[in-house]
Amino acid sequence: MDGIRVGIIGMGFIGKLHLDALRRLDGVEVSAVSTSHPNAEFGCRICNSWQEIIDDPSIDAVHNCLPQAMHREVNIAAMAAGKHIYSEKPLGMDTSDAMSQLKALKEHPVAAAIGHQYRANAAVAELRERIRSGSAGKVLFFSGRYFQDSLAHGDDYSERRLPENSPARTLSDLGSHLLDLSVHVLGSRIRKVMALMQTHYSERQGHPIHSDDTTFLLVEMENGVCGTLAVSKAAHGHKNDLFLSVSCSEEELSWSQEMPDRLSIWSREKGNAVLFPDSRFFSDKASRLTTLPAGHVMGWADALRNSMALFHSSIRDGSWRGDVDYATFADGCHVSAAIDAAVLSSSSGRWEEVEA
Ligand SMILES: NC(=O)c1ccc[n+]([C@@H]2O[C@H](COP(=O)([O-])OP(=O)(O)OC[C@H]3O[C@@H](n4cnc5c(N)ncnc54)[C@H](O)[C@@H]3O)[C@@H](O)[C@H]2O)c1
Repeated sequence: MDGIRVGIIGMGFIGKLHLDALRRLDGVEVSAVSTSHPNAEFGCRICNSWQEIIDDPSIDAVHNCLPQAMHREVNIAAMAAGKHIYSEKPLGMDTSDAMSQLKALKEHPVAAAIGHQYRANAAVAELRERIRSGSAGKVLFFSGRYFQDSLAHGDDYSERRLPENSPARTLSDLGSHLLDLSVHVLGSRIRKVMALMQTHYSERQGHPIHSDDTTFLLVEMENGVCGTLAVSKAAHGHKNDLFLSVSCSEEELSWSQEMPDRLSIWSREKGNAVLFPDSRFFSDKASRLTTLPAGHVMGWADALRNSMALFHSSIRDGSWRGDVDYATFADGCHVSAAIDAAVLSSSSGRWEEVEA
């Protein structure tokens, strides 16, 4: 395949960032976007309905940047039309919503990715490679958090992205990234979870609230490694504070999204160190995600660009039919199942198995 022609559906916060990222890629052209704002200009053809993008035979791949509740319908329509699909996260509203998309993918095989772009950060890739190679020793445990502050005050209220009363609102929005990151870095799926979901304000601006503002998780992976994860939208001053650390028998490795181009290495004997992306110190796999010379800070937008580069190069060389480093629809089903198990655990008070 020569140039890949892309249509983006949904031009809100993340849709505009997809457009920017795609325009940084060679061999990829954004030929049309679908937006509910008819007077918008994006330097390409504007469609007033998402079906126009799906029905356009010249479009090879669709980027679905619509709200979560619309992912399934559009993703399934794209796959049925034979278009490769890069869907924003989380894949579905729950496990059955996500599984129906995986079923459609099996019927209409195409390249299918989910927007868990943190996998494609160079320092995250290096963290993963060090865990895989065993250079930090045996993995003992892990801990992570994803904190933001958009619901920090009792009168904060927003229906954007997710219905206010989805049972796992914060766990779904933020936790989907943290769960995917943990699975990816640790190289193991989740066996079971124990959850405590908290609603800090039972009412916001006169609306009764039943969804989680903060969720704590105890997690056991299929490889036996255990960890703690926490997500919150009520953490004052934390803007996009995604953090993961993995404690191993020789040293601890950690990464913080707000200092995105650093891998921290903690050691009782050697002291603590910070490693910046540099092909002399990073593995080949991580170095391939290093798009700027050392010292030129790579961050959030670069990981997004890298994630799309991995997806589109897998379309170009056909490698999407095998193992890929980006999050797949099967990964999205697993994350949804972990979230559903957490909701169940929070009411049962017991460990719950992750079914998918
Ligand atoms: N990967 C990430 O880090 C990341 C970050 C933010 C959001 N997201 C995900 O991206 C998705 C969208 O989130 P957002 O923050 O961009 O939301 P948003 O509300 O800013 O944007 C959604 C857009 O979809 C448009 N839209 C709704 N119905 C439409 C239709 N029928 N046709 C065309 N456009 C339509 C809306 O007008 C809006 O512009 C969510 O699933 C969210 O979880 C991912």
